[in-house]
Amino acid sequence: MAFVYSLYTLLCFLLPAAMFFPEPRITWHQTEVSLTHFQEQGVYNYSTLLLSEDKDVLYIGAREAIFAVNSLKISEKKHEAYWKATDEKSKECVRKGKSRQTECLNYIRVLQTLNENTLFVCGTNAFHPSCDTLDVSSFTLAGKNEDGKGRCPFDPAQSYTSVMVDGELYSGTSFTFLGSEPIICRHSQQGLLRTEYAVPWLNEPRFVHSDVIRAPSNNPDGDDDKVYFFFTEVSVEYEFFNKLLIPRIARVCKGDQGGLRTLQKKWTTFLKARLICHSQENNMIFNVINDVFILKSPDLQEPVIYGVFTSHLNNVGMSAVCAYSVSSVEDVFSRGKYMQSATVEQAHTKWVQFNGEVPKPRPGACIGNEAKAMNYTSSLNLPDKTLQFVKDHPLMDDSVTPLGKKPKLVLQNVTYTQIVVDQVKALDGNTYDVMFLSTDKGMLHKAMSRDTEMRIIEEIVLFPDHQAVQTLLLSNKQNKRYIYASSNDEVIQSPIAFCEKFTSCAECVLTRDPYCAWHPSKNSCVEILLEANTDRLLIQSLNGDSSQCPDSADKGIQESKRYSVKAGSTVEMKCSYKSNLASVVWTFNKESFSVAPPKYIVNNALIILNVTESDTGTYQCWAQELVMSNVFSQLVIKHVLEIEKTPPPVASTTPPPSTRMEGIMETTRFYVVKKEKTTKMSTTTTTTPVVTTSVGGVTYLNNKITTPTVPVLGEVFSALPNVEKALYLTNNNDCSLLIILVIVFFLLFVILLIYNCYKGFLPDACLKYRSALLSSKKKSPPSLKDCEHGLKETLVEKGCTENQCSGTVKAPPDTGYETDADCVNGNITHKEDETTEENETDQPFDVKCEIKYADSDGD
Ligand SMILES: *[C@@H]1O[C@H](CO)[C@@H](O)[C@H](O)[C@H]1NC(C)=O
Ligand SMILES: *[C@@H]1O[C@H](CO)[C@@H](O)[C@H](O)[C@H]1NC(C)=O
Repeated sequence: MAFVYSLYTLLCFLLPAAMFFPEPRITWHQTEVSLTHFQEQGVYNYSTLLLSEDKDVLYIGAREAIFAVNSLKISEKKHEAYWKATDEKSKECVRKGKSRQTECLNYIRVLQTLNENTLFVCGTNAFHPSCDTLDVSSFTLAGKNEDGKGRCPFDPAQSYTSVMVDGELYSGTSFTFLGSEPIICRHSQQGLLRTEYAVPWLNEPRFVHSDVIRAPSNNPDGDDDKVYFFFTEVSVEYEFFNKLLIPRIARVCKGDQGGLRTLQKKWTTFLKARLICHSQENNMIFNVINDVFILKSPDLQEPVIYGVFTSHLNNVGMSAVCAYSVSSVEDVFSRGKYMQSATVEQAHTKWVQFNGEVPKPRPGACIGNEAKAMNYTSSLNLPDKTLQFVKDHPLMDDSVTPLGKKPKLVLQNVTYTQIVVDQVKALDGNTYDVMFLSTDKGMLHKAMSRDTEMRIIEEIVLFPDHQAVQTLLLSNKQNKRYIYASSNDEVIQSPIAFCEKFTSCAECVLTRDPYCAWHPSKNSCVEILLEANTDRLLIQSLNGDSSQCPDSADKGIQESKRYSVKAGSTVEMKCSYKSNLASVVWTFNKESFSVAPPKYIVNNALIILNVTESDTGTYQCWAQELVMSNVFSQLVIKHVLEIEKTPPPVASTTPPPSTRMEGIMETTRFYVVKKEKTTKMSTTTTTTPVVTTSVGGVTYLNNKITTPTVPVLGEVFSALPNVEKALYLTNNNDCSLLIILVIVFFLLFVILLIYNCYKGFLPDACLKYRSALLSSKKKSPPSLKDCEHGLKETLVEKGCTENQCSGTVKAPPDTGYETDADCVNGNITHKEDETTEENETDQPFDVKCEIKYADSDGD
């Protein structure tokens, strides 16, 4: 009981501690960047994309239509083919109670290359899945109307995945009209090879991805190619009050042919394991996998599996990326322990580690050297013992842990839907993995990590109407890399970088995008993949250090605007800088000044009210950005203000040199803006610990400074006093916010404590107090029912299952080979429910509520 309570506390109270969530540095709106669109009038649900890189063609599967477009410019349509559900099928579908407008249509769900001239296509076809072949040159369907059962879902709303491996289609989908029978299968000349229809094999899975990983040629184990499936399913192994979702990886071997008697026409190599994506420091568990990308590259020793996760547990609204090495996955399958369903007490099935003797050859292993040495050359002649074992033990006890034992990226208020990963060789000679992550709100994030620092270089608004991104695809050609994204309404082609948007060397370098570098002779920011062998000329520095930039290169950014206004009027001076991470600081006649109301208002612009003679002069807007503990300042724009008819002496007159140095405050951030007037640096470096190098309008400060006032600096720099205070007001507010938070949490704690006490979750002392208090009002003793009920309410999803909603709370559903009511394969009995009803109350609280899930990853 103490255990359950502590777990409960853990999940409920230990909300993510203060954590750093990267913010996209730059946001590109559709109007700013050139994205290419494809959209056909009256056609929706562009859900499948297939790229033919050598033909430069992108195939698009939509609702009742297939298109071929130019992959370098997708607005250029090459071919189209329409495949509508027939009237007959459509009517039949409507008769079965489905919607004519949304469900009884043909949604293309499978689009795969069969051979050079043929595509393999399947569609839901009004709840009557069918497959066909498409001739690429004539772009016509063959009209085969093959039964698509097992290759394509019936219901367009259901999850699906498929991959074509050597002409054979591997798919994960549902097998029946009702969608209740999940299946992972292979269609080939030899017929269908599939998963056993049993809860331990697949339990309400939501498929997200599948892919093949080839065994290295002449590998020592004589291993086979393997096909991996990724999905989220309902856990059988963890007893939870409600359905607990678990992210899984499953795999089968390409050479599998099923068993002869046992597991006839079923996989003999189907094994699955749990994928872990936890952040231990913050106690965040990501238990729903949304998409996977397997990075395969000749430069890599082994492929890397990237997955995006969200959570249905304690950290709703967060997303994470976890990466796994294929060898860690293989270790689990080829050396890990199996799980076994064990009967504990009456009719109460639990899954525990199997510690008995494992038959040989190893169950679920591909036919490799081990099996061959024992004269088993095919899965068909594997011994019954091995087959029976894998039939009963498809689940591994070991889980797959991510590289680095934690997520690569955790983000708040974002639901990532899809991921693709590119590798780029930067000019520093290192290869970086750049992740492209799409969200359910139509955004695309581009993230990379370097030196343990994870950054989101930029975000792109792909779909301004916040449509969810359905499919994401990366073209991998050396010189023509694009991202393709589809939604219900359109397909978008986006460049992988927007280097040309940066007009100065400093900006180009500060973006720290491994695809971009400054080209001094072209005087522009270029994409390095498009530049041939000019590496030495290009300037790129992934730590943001622009000291290599030539002096002249920074002219581009400096604009000057002149305002001539009447005395007493209001002036608005705009200053916009692309970086979301930069803060803006204003100087007046090259000195910092306090931009406080009522005289000034600062937002995206500086607004000066009631202009007087003394306001005339030069206003400069500086963007300052903290990059790896260095601060970069950059002049964004210069405004010159004068009063009409009486032109006062303005910018040309140099202001008196400032000797003040009040700009350094308690914050560790120290901003130094170099005066435009060229001054010598050498005098200062000797007297201060500050080593500055300055190029163009950018000052590069090597050390974090916390010590104030070095008078010598006054000549050289004008620091920024109160401006900073105005801009960083939040510094002081942080503390009070924290106190409020602490109070709120304390109150929450007290409320929950009282609630728990009331519900009977707490130790005896409390229970006594409670019963004393409640004895007259409530009779029932603390029981399992209370436990289940209370935890359900507080923890897991809001939606309720039939079990929960029925008047009496039943025992947790038996986790053996049965699903809920839609289970069709066996006799459904809820016998346990009835027979155990009386026992329940006798059982001690912690037996039923014991949860293995949360503590199982302590290692
Ligand atoms: C198809 O697209 C329409 C229009 O955007 C959308 O409302 C519907 O939910 C989509 N259907 C499926 C199955 O994705
Ligand atoms: C396998 O078969 C070969 C030849 O058929 C035989 O020589 C060998 O002893 C067999 N090995 C085992 C382990 O049965």
